[in-house]
Amino acid sequence: MNSDLYLLSLESSCDETSAAVLKNDQVLSNVIATQKVHEQFGGVVPEMASRAHIQNIVPVVDVALKNAQVEKQQLGAVAFTQAPGLLGSLLVGAGFAKSFAQARNLPLIAVHHMQAHVLAHYIEYPKPTFPFLCLTVSGGHTQIVLCKSHLDMTVLGETIDDAAGEAFDKSAKMLGLPYPGGPLIDKYAKDGDPLRFSFPITDMVNYDFSFSGIKTAILYFLQKEKKQNPHFVEQNLNDICASVQSTIIKTLLKKLELAATTLGIKNVGIAGGVSANSELRKALEELGSKKGWQIFIPKFEYCTDNAAMIGIAGYYKFLAGQTCGLDISPSARASW
Ligand code: KG4
Ligand code: ZN
Repeated sequence: MNSDLYLLSLESSCDETSAAVLKNDQVLSNVIATQKVHEQFGGVVPEMASRAHIQNIVPVVDVALKNAQVEKQQLGAVAFTQAPGLLGSLLVGAGFAKSFAQARNLPLIAVHHMQAHVLAHYIEYPKPTFPFLCLTVSGGHTQIVLCKSHLDMTVLGETIDDAAGEAFDKSAKMLGLPYPGGPLIDKYAKDGDPLRFSFPITDMVNYDFSFSGIKTAILYFLQKEKKQNPHFVEQNLNDICASVQSTIIKTLLKKLELAATTLGIKNVGIAGGVSANSELRKALEELGSKKGWQIFIPKFEYCTDNAAMIGIAGYYKFLAGQTCGLDISPSARASW
């Protein structure tokens, strides 16, 4: 008997419609349809995201199966993002996953999106051994997560207001850059001086973060400078981006260093959309070599939202017997 598990996974929590096919813990395909419709609005419009997911989901699953060269009949389970995210968007993925599972009589696996970001580290080698400390930085969350096993994770600290990705995107918006601004700040910062302008680093107690202060500081700074020189942003864009980026990175790494040092953990990684940031990746490598840590950084395609990470999380949940019934509901907010 063939004991390999072929698993179909779906991600639809925000503005990416994604489907992946895994053979056990090996990703055979990972198809991502990014919704361009939101760019003109400066942020994700939830109703439009739901509609785009409805249009995308069938073709995306179709391409994922074709790319993997796997037939529907071979699938042994379906995993989907159950929480957290935009409720309308989650409903599309959940509805599709439930219908597919029921039609093919397959076990269904509900996956927590933030847990999946962390488990993206277990798609490819080198895979972190436990305990593993992961800084998860996305558009909606910023968390320091202690992982004792694939499924035993504890959030040690998180943002009390904006997420790191929001700090990037909102700063970019103030600079007149389109959504999502994080990758553009990364791009312009490459030619800028990170020490040119200074913004405050908010220090919270324990391992928590706050990014709303940086946002307000940037807003007042730009208002003041633009009063004196209306072309201030165009003339200093690279330096502003580099300075904003460096402040966000220092805020993140300060807490990660505190947590790793206090807990004596040497396996340290980053995950989530903001972990695609080139300077954060570099700064973590540098900090890691100074501290003697082993550093884990996912491949770019597994940093931002993707179904492969939902698949790997689904695989470990399947092994642990953590399947769910068709009565499961998606949830916009969810603890672990
Ligand atoms: O994990 P993700 O794809 O979606 C959520 O779960 O939120 O993260 C999206 C976030 C956005 O805020 C985006 O601007 C940010 O990740 N991001 C970046 C970069 N690439 C994506 N931020 C900074 N630099 C990047 N290169
Ligand atoms: Zn995400």
